[in-house]
Amino acid sequence: MGFMEWNEKFITGVREADEQHKRLVDLINELYDAMSQGKGSEVIDKILDELAKYADYHFKTEEGLMSKYGYPELEQHKREHEAFTKKVQEFIESRKGGSLTLTMKVMNFLKEWLTNHILGTDKKYGPFLTSKMK
Ligand code: FEO
Repeated sequence: MGFMEWNEKFITGVREADEQHKRLVDLINELYDAMSQGKGSEVIDKILDELAKYADYHFKTEEGLMSKYGYPELEQHKREHEAFTKKVQEFIESRKGGSLTLTMKVMNFLKEWLTNHILGTDKKYGPFLTSKMK
């Protein structure tokens, strides 16, 4: 069992977003495995960087769809994405400065943020977007 399990409850119905969420779960698990296996900082930084880039790509996908179809909660959704991006950038910066060891606290933040965001925020656009995308 991985550190974070993808769950059917995560399905929003928007295929592209659902596939991207799976990739984000995979990246969090890769990061966890690297951390728990005591991999060097080069490996860890590379995965963290990939996670940041992929999250950015994913957020742009969702925001693009929400914007295209006139989703009313786009702005508040975007603010959640921005808060996550900022936090991950802070992790990356702290690691560059040598002051952040990847800990369970960081890993739990990533897992909990993604879980809560998908279940609480992403799932809200599901019925709206799927009805528009038909
Ligand atoms: Fe799937 Fe709003 O991030």
